[in-house]
Amino acid sequence: MDISVVGAGHVGLVTGACFADLGNQVVVTDHDKDKIALLKRGKTPFYEPGLEELVRRGIAQKRLRFTTSMKEAVEHGLVIFISVWTPQRPNGEADLTAVENVSRQIAQALRAYRVIVEKSTVPVETGEWVKRTMSLSVRRRVPFDVASNPEFLREGQAVQDFMNPDRIVLGVESKRAKDLLLELYKPLKAPIVVTDVKSAELIKHASNSFLAMKISFINAIAQLCDQVGADITKVAEGMGLDTRIGRAFLDAGVGWGGSCFPKDVWAFIRIADKLGYDFQLLKAVAQVNVQQRQLFVKRIAQILWNLNNKTIGVLGLAFKPNTDDLRSAPSIDIIRMLQEEGAKVRTFDPKAMEQANGLFTDVTFCKDVYEAARGADCLVIVTEWNEFKELDFVRLKKLMRQPCIIDGRNIYDPEALRRLGFRYVGIGRGHPTTYLGLPKGSPSPHGEKSS
Ligand code: UDX
Ligand code: UDX
Repeated sequence: MDISVVGAGHVGLVTGACFADLGNQVVVTDHDKDKIALLKRGKTPFYEPGLEELVRRGIAQKRLRFTTSMKEAVEHGLVIFISVWTPQRPNGEADLTAVENVSRQIAQALRAYRVIVEKSTVPVETGEWVKRTMSLSVRRRVPFDVASNPEFLREGQAVQDFMNPDRIVLGVESKRAKDLLLELYKPLKAPIVVTDVKSAELIKHASNSFLAMKISFINAIAQLCDQVGADITKVAEGMGLDTRIGRAFLDAGVGWGGSCFPKDVWAFIRIADKLGYDFQLLKAVAQVNVQQRQLFVKRIAQILWNLNNKTIGVLGLAFKPNTDDLRSAPSIDIIRMLQEEGAKVRTFDPKAMEQANGLFTDVTFCKDVYEAARGADCLVIVTEWNEFKELDFVRLKKLMRQPCIIDGRNIYDPEALRRLGFRYVGIGRGHPTTYLGLPKGSPSPHGEKSS
């Protein structure tokens, strides 16, 4: 099928390249000329495993092309996906200006029937606005349909998620649009939920908010584990074996970040407000997430006493492994808070260093983990890259000022590190005073009661 994608970002580019790989003729347009020029040369503007190969293959097989011309994209694609950004406004609402602009541009270029599909994450009722905006700009009697087809891909495994979705959601208003989208997705052989546009829009916000809630829930439980010396990884295991709960997204840590959860949770809270529903539950989910980073820095201070002039090695900057994306990454807040306490920060990330340049001031960017550990009073794990899981701890111990690891992602075995002579503290794996060797019941340096 001939399809077009407007917006060559994480979602749009993966969508376009995957559909081309499934045999469709795909045109991807973006208003960023440099990005399109780069893509025409077979280079992707961000790191995503397997995507660059897919883009090159699509270009080589003449199934994928890039343009800055909206007119060309609208003329080409029978189905046109809108995957432009929907960033967060200061009040938390989703900024839909780009969606409105491209809707109008598509309408102005429309000469024959097209299905315009929302792929960007948008608040409920956006489809109505897209239809209204297009009706005002489209030439008389040119038919079109607006549909919703939210994306559930995760960064770092986006191609795999697109090609192997748990489900496909289609919000449609006509049989014609439904048949076209069913045919387009046939090769993926996944369960398909066909519904109305509003329900499809809500499925996306509700799904992301539920996942964020699951993480905030396990992080809240981790705070209790720290008080009583229980092990959150065991608690998550015990909970997760209940098929009604599921083990996925029960990894306690420094909290969720990224381009989606933070903005989608607040966009959902704000749209609920507008609809007269005070979404207390989600507000608590967002608050636990903010607290989790603050608690993590408090934990580091509990162990190092004064942070002023201490050297902290921060391992991981990206909001999660296998991406170079720093959008709402926990590392940004954690490093800022450490620096506010006067700490000196050395850092290493396998992929996100280039993106990080310009985001942080007075941070020493190191060529590897060991250089980040040199002279450090402790190492803190912020992103659970695989390459951090098997380190030469004997070498690390020699490089560090004191052998201390604070594991914000629970990637290490506490006993194994303690046997190697490290002071180790994780998230929800027992109160730090326990490991500072303070007598039972003694108050922690920061007033929390130890177990
Ligand atoms: C986007 C949405 O922002 C997000 O809500 C949704 O969950 C997933 O899709 P992402 O693909 O990560 O997220 O966005 P981004 O990487 O910022 O890409 C958006 C692209 O749209 C950019 O390449 C930008 O240049 C392009 N764009 C934006 C246009 O082509 N025209 C515009 O008017 C605005
Ligand atoms: C998310 C959704 O998973 C995806 O379906 C949607 O399309 C876009 O938003 P993404 O933002 O790429 O994808 O990352 P995800 O893997 O969901 O992780 C989000 C955040 O939660 C990351 O900061 C991650 O570190 C954190 N997380 C995830 C946890 O802290 N614990 C977990 O158990 C899982």
